[in-house]
Amino acid sequence: MTRILVVNGPNLNLLGEREPGQYGQRGLQDILDELQQVADATGLQLDAVQSNAEGELIDAVQQASRDGVDWIILNPAGYTHTSVALRDALLAVKIPFIEVHLSAVSAREPFRQVSYFADIAEGVISGFRGEGYLLALQAILNRIEP
Ligand code: DQA
Repeated sequence: MTRILVVNGPNLNLLGEREPGQYGQRGLQDILDELQQVADATGLQLDAVQSNAEGELIDAVQQASRDGVDWIILNPAGYTHTSVALRDALLAVKIPFIEVHLSAVSAREPFRQVSYFADIAEGVISGFRGEGYLLALQAILNRIEP
């Protein structure tokens, strides 16, 4: 069974209440519940982690390798623009991942237009609010051997 880990970085636990104009009205659990429904319907094993701490995100990526995770859906949030260490973790484990952003980062402040992950991601989905995670899951489904 294909295993997928959804990794969400800092402040994404506040989705729904946090800047809804940028990030949408839906809470993280609502988005994850929808992903879980698709995973159940398509026979994927889906797990999710959210942390506000860089080291915990790195630990989760390292653990994913030990657990045999096949794909990661990653929203590094603010660490997108700063974290060499989280990038190094993804390079170390070599698990293919899709970078997701709820907001259209390329249309925002210049510092948000720099990603430490985009060049090593399978692809980047940005600007579709919570739907972006579903699009990432669909992209993974399209790439799994039948
Ligand atoms: C974000 C974009 C980041 O710039 C920001 O720091 C976030 C969320 C997004 O999903 O749009 O926290 O990753």
